[in-house]
Amino acid sequence: MYSSISHHLFSFLTMGTTNSDFKLVGYSNFVRINPKSDLFPVKRFHHIEFWTGDATNVSRRFSWGLGMPIVAKSDLSTGNSVHASYLLRSGNLSFLFTSAYSPTISSSSPSSASIPTFNPSQFTSFLTAHGLAVRAVAIEVESADAAFDTSVSHGAIPCSPPTHLPNGVALAEVHLYGDVVLRYISYGKDTDASSFLAGFEEMPEEASFRGLDFGLRRLDHAVGNVPELGPAMEYVKKFTGFHEFAEFTAEDVGTSESGLNSAVLANNDETVLMPMNEPVYGTKRKSQIQTYLEHNEGAGLQHLALMSEDIFWTLREMRKRSGVGGFEFMPRPPPTYYRNLRGRAKGVLSEEQMKECEELGILVDMDDQGTLLQIFTKPIGDRPTMFIEIIQRIGCMVKDESGKLYQKGGCGGFGKGNFSELFKSIEEYEKTLERKSVADDANAA
Ligand SMILES: [Fe+2]
Repeated sequence: MYSSISHHLFSFLTMGTTNSDFKLVGYSNFVRINPKSDLFPVKRFHHIEFWTGDATNVSRRFSWGLGMPIVAKSDLSTGNSVHASYLLRSGNLSFLFTSAYSPTISSSSPSSASIPTFNPSQFTSFLTAHGLAVRAVAIEVESADAAFDTSVSHGAIPCSPPTHLPNGVALAEVHLYGDVVLRYISYGKDTDASSFLAGFEEMPEEASFRGLDFGLRRLDHAVGNVPELGPAMEYVKKFTGFHEFAEFTAEDVGTSESGLNSAVLANNDETVLMPMNEPVYGTKRKSQIQTYLEHNEGAGLQHLALMSEDIFWTLREMRKRSGVGGFEFMPRPPPTYYRNLRGRAKGVLSEEQMKECEELGILVDMDDQGTLLQIFTKPIGDRPTMFIEIIQRIGCMVKDESGKLYQKGGCGGFGKGNFSELFKSIEEYEKTLERKSVADDANAA
């Protein structure tokens, strides 16, 4: 019920902000500055929670397909009769899969839930509306209480006020977009940060896929699709203080085929990157964002970009499992894409690496700072909605105060250039096929 109230409240609020301050200026006019304007200290992406009809099966599929061992559980076997939850982890990347137990059994011991914000009736309506989808984008903050209070006093719609768990973890939630919440999580000084939430226990070895590792290390960006970018950006910007990091419009892409406008919000360190897309209309093909909004019944999380320490390793492992329970990828670009790439990526990628990109179907894009290697899976569930991106960023190494090298966030951009590169290479490729069929006809004659 809370969710439908907040929904109405949200549409009411956004109605009043049609004169929002947020305006797209386009990729070439956009000037990147970092005003370090966060309203509360933000550390990093912490975890992503999916809501699903069956957490056991879905968590195992993700574990196997992405090389992420199942490290912890909270379910009937640990005394939780409200929800089944499984935690997957690879490096600093954590995925949580949650499903509800029988309403009758669950209502007889509601306090056995280990995720204090879990609400069975919200879960049911969420699942009906969206299918398998992301419920929470969790970020680690210095204090969940302060983050929640500050956000709400700056216009965030509250979903769950702060709860303090016995292991010193605090949790709170505000509305992000659609039925997705932004979850604030903080750890007390003496809390072991690897302990996750109280009530979770280590997964027994026989069910944990222990030892699986394809090189995924952390979440790079979490992207939302919304009907209107202006009000959605303005809403999040206002209550987090995040700054605009990058943007592009359908016109920037140079072909009207992208069907989307996009903008990115970032925290002070630019390690929490939250792009959002809106559909544009009047293109030959229907906007993929519009398709998403229809199948997802509104706004929601579109894709998660997972950063690999070695994208070739990750892709070799993932592709091995595509046909046997893992994830499938979007069709590979035509050979013309890789012929053009040799000019574009000279000096950054070796001939060997370019060959490997072609073999694995990896796309390459650059911005003024660095290079981005990226590839997209097909939708991960029944609906043409959510998918996963695997990335590796090259370049932008800088030193911190202690002299330690680190990579600047968002190095190489988000793949804007690939829209037009793919479009161009497909056109060129189709021309080579025309020539081939003319030649074949001549041979046949
Ligand atoms: Fe992305």
